[in-house]
Amino acid sequence: MVAVAWPLRDTARVPATTFAFLGDIVAGPGRRIVETWLPVLRGDHAPDIVVANAENAAHGSGLSARQYRELRALGIDGITLGDHAFREPSIRPVLEEPEARVIRPLNLSPRAGGRTVLRLPPPPGRRRGVAVITVLGRIFMALPADDPFRAVDDLIAALGSAEPVTIIVEAHMEATSEKAALAHHLDGRVAAVLGTHTHVPTADARILPGGTAFITDVGMCGPYDSCIGRDKSAVVRYMTTGVFQAYGIGAGDERLCAAVVSLSDDTGLALAIRRVEYPPPPVSHPGPVPHPAG
Ligand SMILES: [Fe+2]
Ligand SMILES: [Fe+2]
Repeated sequence: MVAVAWPLRDTARVPATTFAFLGDIVAGPGRRIVETWLPVLRGDHAPDIVVANAENAAHGSGLSARQYRELRALGIDGITLGDHAFREPSIRPVLEEPEARVIRPLNLSPRAGGRTVLRLPPPPGRRRGVAVITVLGRIFMALPADDPFRAVDDLIAALGSAEPVTIIVEAHMEATSEKAALAHHLDGRVAAVLGTHTHVPTADARILPGGTAFITDVGMCGPYDSCIGRDKSAVVRYMTTGVFQAYGIGAGDERLCAAVVSLSDDTGLALAIRRVEYPPPPVSHPGPVPHPAG
């Protein structure tokens, strides 16, 4: 067995910001699991900044203004959205507020409205603030998104070097290949490329050669005894019959999944990344369960 130290480099001698990013929060089960386990993550990792994707917080699609305020009250510093960004009408005016800490995807039409860059101030004693953006993929995604590669290139150029900032890019994409290509395209120019949207945590968290942290999917905060958050019986019925089913929210095996990234205050790149999951996944079968199609 190989012991892996955390952090992976000696950050005691390098000024660093600890950044925690929570994967897609799915409906009531996701909101409750975050409320329960975020304090434990804080105790274990002491993040300076916590950001969460909450595009599924409202019944599985969207985020209401009330839920935005509730998540912020839990101490979440900023919230990103994805392809369900505009499902809840009440979030639209919030997306326009200059001081609001919620953003929609960068590479949708400017005509869609809403802010696209989440600016977070430097933690005490650091000089770099953090800018978080999310971009939609174009493979197996329904929305008419622009080129995510060029969108991030343009944003990096626009941010310039007037003030030191650490850039975090959320890759809200379906295809693993598109997420990996974006990460390699941005390696050495942003601190992290963190995948979301597919709701399944992946085991590939790593630092790329240029210093960019990457994980294909952080995983969701929600019920894992489900089909990516939806009621497993309804999804199986639909996929075995083709007859329309209203997908309710799943239940059981609720987990908080996140990535914790150590950000160098000197370079604006990553020192380490670690995937975390609360509660820890089971290592043995809990006993017989009924077949979902039964
Ligand atoms: Fe999504
Ligand atoms: Fe999602």
